[in-house]
Amino acid sequence: MRIAILVSGSGTNLQALLDAADSGRLQSATLALVVSNRPNVKALQRGAAAGVPTIVIDHEAFSTRHEFEEELLLALREQTVEAVVLAGFMRILSPFFVEKFEHRILNTHPALCPAFPGIRAPQQAIEAGVKVSGCTVHFVDAGVDTGPIIFQECVAVEPDDTAATLHARIQALEHRLLPKATELLARGALTVRDGRVEVRS
Ligand code: GAR
Repeated sequence: MRIAILVSGSGTNLQALLDAADSGRLQSATLALVVSNRPNVKALQRGAAAGVPTIVIDHEAFSTRHEFEEELLLALREQTVEAVVLAGFMRILSPFFVEKFEHRILNTHPALCPAFPGIRAPQQAIEAGVKVSGCTVHFVDAGVDTGPIIFQECVAVEPDDTAATLHARIQALEHRLLPKATELLARGALTVRDGRVEVRS
């Protein structure tokens, strides 16, 4: 299955996918395209270094979300992309886009959904004083960090944690779970029934 990875920043999750492909852990998925909505981010260098086609579709160049997403769809079609992985992609995708890839868009979020959606989830967790947080890998629906949950794992929030130290421990989980979910999706091993995900190993 040909997969596009959408990024906006440093791309450590993209790197985890590239490393998984390199070491044979993505048997059924081909990383066909990296798309960034922001120019000059490190994720673009990571994709290029691994020999994956990379493009920038700068959302600021479009006056509406719809126009941005039409351009995105065009780029995905050109590369015959069948599924999409959001790896630190910090734009909301509208129903117009999401409906084209129903149950074929994955996202990773650095919190235990439905807690702390949106930006700065680790900071939100620290401010709320929760004792555990974690990561969620899920299918994308029309909401923000919502959609059927594939994997969740938790970490303890330590008394001296900052948003950065907590996020780093959560990212270690993401780097393992996002490639795993991507391979399962590509293998056709994920089924959504009544909003719940069944995983066949
Ligand atoms: C990741 O931790 C991801 O969970 C988060 O952005 C980070 C990107 O890191 N995504 C969200 O917060 C989505 N709401 P990376 O660019 O190093 O992969």
